[in-house]
Amino acid sequence: MEIRKVGVLGCGLMGSGIAQVAAGAGFETVVREVSDDLIKKGFGGIEKSLAKFAEKGTITAEQQGEIRNRLSGTTSFEELSDCDIIIEAIIENLEEKRKTYQQLDGLCKPETIFASNTSSISITEMMTTTSPERQQRFIGLHFFNPVPLMKLVEVVRTILTDESIYEQAVEFARRLGKVPVRAGDKSGFIVNRLLVPYMLDSIRALEEGVGSIEDIDTSMKLGLGYPMGPFTLGDFVGLDTTYYIAEIMFNEFREKRFAPPPLLKRMVLAGLYGRKSGRGFYDYTKDPKNPTPMKLI
Ligand code: 3HC
Repeated sequence: MEIRKVGVLGCGLMGSGIAQVAAGAGFETVVREVSDDLIKKGFGGIEKSLAKFAEKGTITAEQQGEIRNRLSGTTSFEELSDCDIIIEAIIENLEEKRKTYQQLDGLCKPETIFASNTSSISITEMMTTTSPERQQRFIGLHFFNPVPLMKLVEVVRTILTDESIYEQAVEFARRLGKVPVRAGDKSGFIVNRLLVPYMLDSIRALEEGVGSIEDIDTSMKLGLGYPMGPFTLGDFVGLDTTYYIAEIMFNEFREKRFAPPPLLKRMVLAGLYGRKSGRGFYDYTKDPKNPTPMKLI
């Protein structure tokens, strides 16, 4: 089966980015959200991103229009029934994801590939809610934020994934203009397996007074050439998301390095989620381009 039509579940930061990339690669793409408002918000982000690429000359005004024409939004699952691949990027909640997959399994063609953009939930735990045939066509496609810019996609296989489906998914990631890497279905896959302990250790270093928020960030940027320090990155990814991923990984591996430090938990409880809520390790409310470090210790 050739992949022609792409369905995306969720039009948040990741879903809208994935939809943009799929439409940009020439696929007819339909995005499903729970409300028209959320579709509007997600499509607003796509418009902004396309405008940036057009401004830089990465795409022409004509291509910008073509990409838009290949994209549509919906609140119904039925409109995804003829998609060749569904990429799910909804809330990181196992029950929500299982419910969604169950519903789609009955609606979609038998050949449709199901792919999850989860960053830490086990693909196997999600796939078991679908029919035995679908389970062989169930994979992970893990993108990185901001999706239109980050080149990597982790292509995740379970112990039941059909070999030819897996290879088709690897090829599909290439057709999206991304660089695929192969990963097994272990919580966090490759990137978060290494990134999450690093981010949590940075918070522990802060708690222990090793350095300030700014000095730890500067050290990792200038000492190692990382594009962002760990606290800027945490605020960018979302501290609620980081906390949630760490909890899942801690439950999977039962290892201290994945345990969220007390400060992270308290920041999430207090609503300091990072950029999206205006405050995290930095305060973005006054000048988002020049945020000031928060007093947390
Ligand atoms: N679409 C189009 N263009 C965009 C864009 C988008 N969504 N976001 C940023 N840009 C453009 C900017 O307009 C800017 O263009 P210019 O150079 O012409 O001015 C250019 O990209 C660079 O942006 P900025 O100047 O704002 O900032 P940076 O130079 O710092 O680059 C970055 C931004 C690419 C995000 C870079 O900081 C970076 O690579 N950061 C690390 C990101 C990262 O690690 N992501 C992974 C997170 S982990 C994850 O997603 C997994 C999950 O499971 C947790």
